[in-house]
Amino acid sequence: MKLVFASNNKNKLQEIRHQLPADIELLSLEDIGCTEDIPETAETIEGNAILKANYVTEKYGYNCFADDTGLEVDALNGAPGVYSARYAGEAKDANANMDKLLTELSNNPNRNANFKTVIALNLDGEQHLFTGIVNGVITTEKTGEQGFGYDPVFQPEGLAVTFAQISLDEKARLSHRGRAVKQLIDFLKK
Ligand code: IMP
Repeated sequence: MKLVFASNNKNKLQEIRHQLPADIELLSLEDIGCTEDIPETAETIEGNAILKANYVTEKYGYNCFADDTGLEVDALNGAPGVYSARYAGEAKDANANMDKLLTELSNNPNRNANFKTVIALNLDGEQHLFTGIVNGVITTEKTGEQGFGYDPVFQPEGLAVTFAQISLDEKARLSHRGRAVKQLIDFLKK
């Protein structure tokens, strides 16, 4: 079976491809000739995952899954959430995003936050959603060099270091995306 992952992110594609059952051929957007920017105009993380998966299925006719992720900070009523990539502006600059977050939180003692990934899967006319969440706290300064995005300011529950201080393997095991992907893979194996 051919299955499209609505992404061109080589790291994500590779990570998922090698966990899939052998009878599933994973295709990227590039592989199916989809070069346009898929609109991500929904107001929720779920909504954006669904928009992207539906776009591919409706326009190209493939079974498809899409992911969307956001960082939800309790003291900011769930912001930046669905706007995580563009929190400090259209440049999608990770450092600027983290600086804005640290400024917004300032000395607020409530640092609780979570990362949430939703995967929407369109398979043979049915839609399935898989959600992966990791709880943690926003640190008061950036620490660590690994990872990307908000990793240097996110300390997951149960660890004394940030996501930017652990190996990619360890992060894949306990992260929001890792958890959502595991549910997707388990489902596809059935
Ligand atoms: P996307 O939906 O995977 O493109 O993620 C949207 C935005 O959330 C990214 O641009 C990052 O700012 C942030 N983000 C997503 N996943 C992570 C992560 O694992 N660590 C840190 N930031 C992340």
